[in-house]
Amino acid sequence: MAAAGSAIGLGTLWKFPYVAGQNGGGLFILIYLFCTFFIGIPLFMAELSLGRSAQRGAVGTFTHHSGAGTPWRIVGWMGVASSFLIMSYYSVIAGWGMNYVLMSLNQFYVGRTPEEISGTFDLLASSPDITLFWHLVFMAVTVGVVYNGIRKGIEQWSRIMTSSLLVLLVGLLGYSMTLDGFGEAVRFIFYPDFAEFTPASALEALGLAFFTLSLGQGIMITYGSYMRPEDDIIKTSFIIGAMDIVVSLMAALMIFPIVFTFGAELQQGPGLVFRVLPVLFAKLPGALMISTSFFVLFVFTALTSAVALVEVVTANLIDLFGWNRKKATLVVGAAAFLFGIPSALSQCDLLFGNWTVLYGRNFFDTIDSLVAVWLLPLGGFFLAIYVGWILDSEKVRKELVQGSTLGWLWRPWHFAIRWLAPVAVLAILLQKTGIINL
Ligand code: TRP
Repeated sequence: MAAAGSAIGLGTLWKFPYVAGQNGGGLFILIYLFCTFFIGIPLFMAELSLGRSAQRGAVGTFTHHSGAGTPWRIVGWMGVASSFLIMSYYSVIAGWGMNYVLMSLNQFYVGRTPEEISGTFDLLASSPDITLFWHLVFMAVTVGVVYNGIRKGIEQWSRIMTSSLLVLLVGLLGYSMTLDGFGEAVRFIFYPDFAEFTPASALEALGLAFFTLSLGQGIMITYGSYMRPEDDIIKTSFIIGAMDIVVSLMAALMIFPIVFTFGAELQQGPGLVFRVLPVLFAKLPGALMISTSFFVLFVFTALTSAVALVEVVTANLIDLFGWNRKKATLVVGAAAFLFGIPSALSQCDLLFGNWTVLYGRNFFDTIDSLVAVWLLPLGGFFLAIYVGWILDSEKVRKELVQGSTLGWLWRPWHFAIRWLAPVAVLAILLQKTGIINL
């Protein structure tokens, strides 16, 4: 449940729709599904069983298996770095969500045209003070939860919240189906146009699959260390992977009909959810209730993921520097807040005004693609090599099938980990860097 809570977050609700939109839908989504199923889910099993066998966190698992000085530790640290980077901008998005809770309570959409409602997001993103304020509030709440160790309480709440979110999603999806643009949206999502294939978007799809499953950074190693020998790792991984896919597709099926019906643009980037959904909410009876609850649930799913992100970084700092928990939490929270400032201000000209001109994308997108397009796939690559080639395969097999009724999947799984995952990641990375040109 905790692993599912960390996996299902803003990645599915906020990131998947806009990245799929930017990459033309159809084929991109197909590649995403392929990556999730054949690379993501096997790696998910690999991380869980690594963690369960070592009973340690990301860095400790490598030293447990390969000795204190092993270079594989670096893979663990790379994952910690990814978590930190994700946290820095995750909090900005969640902060925008908090702002939308307040705006929903004030019924900001009343008497406004769809264009005006969408445009509110630009106003928000270009208001440095307001964006920073919510970024700070969200980071403070997350740190507060980790600091006071009330994570357990949060997880109980998160079950209720996640179920409510699903119910709300299904309801909204039902409404989206009645919109004129639904047919076009279905075509956009499910019709693969092979002429549009670019290796760059394949890498993007792989990175997105890793991001939404929280893979490639050793997070699931930590969750694996909480699992009992009788727990079924294979089944759990399939269930979480399937949930992730279903929620992603539901989010897309809810959002794209609105885009096509009200003529919004597909290339809107990170603001897509905020721009598009309120247009739908405004048309519904009970708009106040629906839009407020949606954004409350949005913030809550973000919080459960954010707590996990801060915890990983904190736990490893405690391990390394022997800090106490409170100090580590505060330092991580403050550092992630500071590092997130340029992301929060990426749509104003206040800080790093020339960043976009110099590096081709704004600060927010730079960090996001550094993580999702490079660090997570690389992390996944090394994890696959480690589990597939370095560790003793008999031990790996025993750990994987322990407690599972799906032990026959060992062979296909081992093939995916040894060959499919590393070759796919490598091919896409080499292609992206221009070293090979298929
Ligand atoms: N999977 C999360 C989401 O979809 C994002 C995420 C990536 C994450 N890595 C993580 C969450 C590590 C918690 C811990 O939003």
